Order: sequence, then C-alpha cells, then structure tokens
Amino acid sequence: MSHSNAWSNPSVVSPADAAQMAAFLEDRSRLPDQAEINAALCDVLVPRPGERILEVGSGSGVLCRLIAPRVAPGGLVVGLDIAPDMAAAARRYADEEDLGEAVRFDVGPAEALPYPAASFDAVVAVRLLLHAADPDAAVREMARVTRPRGRVEVMDWDFDTVAVDQSDRALTRRIIHWRTDHHGGNNWSGRQLRGRLAAAGLCDLRVTPVVSVASDETSALTQSLWRAADLCRAASAITPAEHDAWVGELRARIAAGRFFASIVYFIVRGEVGA
Ligand SMILES: C[S@@+](CC[C@H](N)C(=O)[O-])C[C@H]1O[C@@H](n2cnc3c(N)ncnc32)[C@H](O)[C@@H]1O
Repeated sequence: MSHSNAWSNPSVVSPADAAQMAAFLEDRSRLPDQAEINAALCDVLVPRPGERILEVGSGSGVLCRLIAPRVAPGGLVVGLDIAPDMAAAARRYADEEDLGEAVRFDVGPAEALPYPAASFDAVVAVRLLLHAADPDAAVREMARVTRPRGRVEVMDWDFDTVAVDQSDRALTRRIIHWRTDHHGGNNWSGRQLRGRLAAAGLCDLRVTPVVSVASDETSALTQSLWRAADLCRAASAITPAEHDAWVGELRARIAAGRFFASIVYFIVRGEVGA
C-alpha cells in the first residue's frame, strides 16, 4: 500500500488492500494496549440493554462487536463506514461471532449520515475524526442523529504527546514531529475533540485522557514508532544511519528492560440537550 492516508477513504484502494486494512484493524485490536483503550471507551459510553448505538467509521467492526452484547436484549448496534469493502469485511467478522441481528453494517459518509434526526441513543466515532474529510461536519451529524439527552463519544490519539526515553533528544523530536505532521491524517485530532463537540452544541462535556504506556514490542505504539522511523528514512527526513542508531538503541532498551514510550488517547463524551 503506497497511500500515506488510505484511511480517509479505503474505497479508493483495491478490494484486496481494503481486506488487508480490515485485517490490520483486527490484529491491532488484539494488542493489549488497544484492548485497554477499547475497554475504556465502553466504560465511558455505558451501553445499556435495549439501546440503539451507531459507530461512525466502524472499520472492521471491532467496537461494534464489543458493544453488541451490552445492548442485548432488544438493542441494535449499527456500524457505518464510507468504504463498502470495509463494511463487507465487518459483516464477515460479525458473522464469524454469530452476532445475528444485533449488529448491522451500512455504507455512507460521516459528513452526511443516512439516518433521520434523533434515531440513536448514542453515537460513537473512534479513530475516525483524524481521517475524516470534514470532522466538524461529522460531529454535527453525530449530534443530529442522537436523541435528546443521548450521548456522543469520540476518541483519537494525539501523536505529538508521544514521549520516548531515548538518548538523542533532537533526533527523537524530529522523528515524532515528522510523523505527526506528515503521516496518517490529522495527528493533533485528539486535542481538538473537545472543541469540536462544544462547537456542535453538545453539553456536559467530559474528557477522559488515557495514557497508554509501552514497555516492549507488544503495543501498537511501539509498532508505530518503528513505522515512523521507516517513513522518516524513506522521506529523507532522517539519514539511514540516524534510523539505524535510533531504532537500534530502542531495541537494545527493550532487550535490557529499559524501554519506555507513551501516548495520550483523548476520549471525549458529550450529551445532546433536552
Ligand atoms: C482507522 S479506521 C478506524 C476503524 C474503527 N473505528 C477502529 O477503531 O478500529 C478509520 C475508518 O473510518 C472510515 N472513514 C474514513 N473517513 C470516513 C468518512 N468521512 N465517513 C465514514 N467513514 C470514514 C475508514 O474507511 C476506516 O474504516
């Protein structure tokens, strides 16, 4: 895959690439740090039996499958994605878990949701707004389709909050800043979420920052750091020698039990007025 941000619309990539992106989301969700974030999302959302919940930008449907048992009996989780191939993959994964009619996957853009006003008890968008073409329009739409007193929950990471213990501070800053500014969408989205919900008129805003700490290879953050270094080298933002020195030291720290990296994921929850 050569796209620097295919996530803003996987329907522009081939079906095989879209299937690979869906498989990437599934694999990532099994990493311990991602399982922790997804549990925090459920804790903040508090899905209840009988509720209708929409996830916008649902990808392979990880969160939808996690929420579905919590709205049973009688509830419904709808996942919506702009990419038909992604929605099809989500349907396949849900069928494997035999979730039946408790989960449905639709196709459409976050910026023009294909639902009437006030049709859901809660609407969620996680790891979406950093990729969405018009995130403010997406949040306005989320508020429109949520019933009075219903909840809107959004979450994104903020790559500029990455802290890495590395002896070369200047090189570390160059890599983190380059990754923040040049790859994978709007990496300041996390710090912008509260303002977006406020601008959409949502009330009772609550921000839950989740600091994810990596101490070895088994976290999505560590894998993102390797990728950041590779991308910087490919873009000539760092030299091959700088790449090898930076990654080499971090790998040595992992082997010696002296690796530390962290990133902040911001979960923001608001309510639609009565
Ligand atoms: C990084 S993935 C996250 C998927 C899922 N929420 C998760 O956390 O595993 C972003 C998803 O949002 C979808 N997407 C991007 N822009 C969108 C838009 N404007 N409207 C609807 N879906 C969109 C992409 O197709 C992709 O499946």
